[in-house]
Amino acid sequence: GVICERYGVDVTTLEFPFGSDIDISRLRSCIEENPDVKAVMITHNETSTGVTNNIKVAAEVIKGEYDKLVLVDGISSVCSIPIETDAWGLDVVATASQKGWMLPPGLAFISFSERAWQAHSESTMPRFYLDMAEYKRYFEIGQPPFTPSISCMFALSTALDRIDQEGLGPLYERHATIGQFTRDSIRDLGLDIFPEREEIASNTCTAVSIPDGVDGGSLVTKMRTEHDVVLAGGQAGLSGKIFRIGHMGLTSHSDIKETIDALKVVLPQVGFTGHR
Ligand SMILES: Cc1ncc(COP(=O)(O)O)c(C=O)c1O
Repeated sequence: GVICERYGVDVTTLEFPFGSDIDISRLRSCIEENPDVKAVMITHNETSTGVTNNIKVAAEVIKGEYDKLVLVDGISSVCSIPIETDAWGLDVVATASQKGWMLPPGLAFISFSERAWQAHSESTMPRFYLDMAEYKRYFEIGQPPFTPSISCMFALSTALDRIDQEGLGPLYERHATIGQFTRDSIRDLGLDIFPEREEIASNTCTAVSIPDGVDGGSLVTKMRTEHDVVLAGGQAGLSGKIFRIGHMGLTSHSDIKETIDALKVVLPQVGFTGHR
């Protein structure tokens, strides 16, 4: 929303409580109340709360019922969680190399539907570095318009071979299995996942509620400095309330097992008394 406003977009924000998913009836009423809306932006997998939104159903409303453009942040879902760009009618989907693609940060990937190209051609928003028409024009002559992250492109070539060898079906299955394993292990420790319902919990990132009396800052620091396990804390309003375990891309069961074993040691040291 903030980025859009900087570019002159008239933004209506629809907020849902952290840990919950998109409320489809509120989405529907918001579009009803704002009939001139051109596009709806949604995040498929909310990395900050560990929630996966059902964008298939959201797109059925946005596009199917109201014929608006559907713009999707698929940063931490594409290549990890099933997403059907064309079949679900998603006009723009963006993702980035540092997530399920198993690469360092440095590349972003974006898909445009015919309708998105049409909207782009009519738009008067300022653009220069991310001018999609320029990218398309250069793509057609086999070049990028600016110097790209060449090292990431070599890594991408290797990653794509791996993804191709594994196949998207098994890759999605692997993420679902490791997500379930992480959530089950967290509950076995006596902790709770942050998403309000199991079925919306992300298979790429598990957010865990930090119980009262547990020092979340020390937990994350001790995990990193004493056990070489990097957890993410909560962002902004969730700071000190959750920690997050990433399990996308190459993360293995043994990585998660190691994380859980380290948590078993560290949790009692930072005030946790509730082992099951
Ligand atoms: C869902 C989601 N959207 C957007 C971003 C922002 O990506 P970047 O830091 O590459 O701008 C992230 C980053 O982790 C993310 O997880």
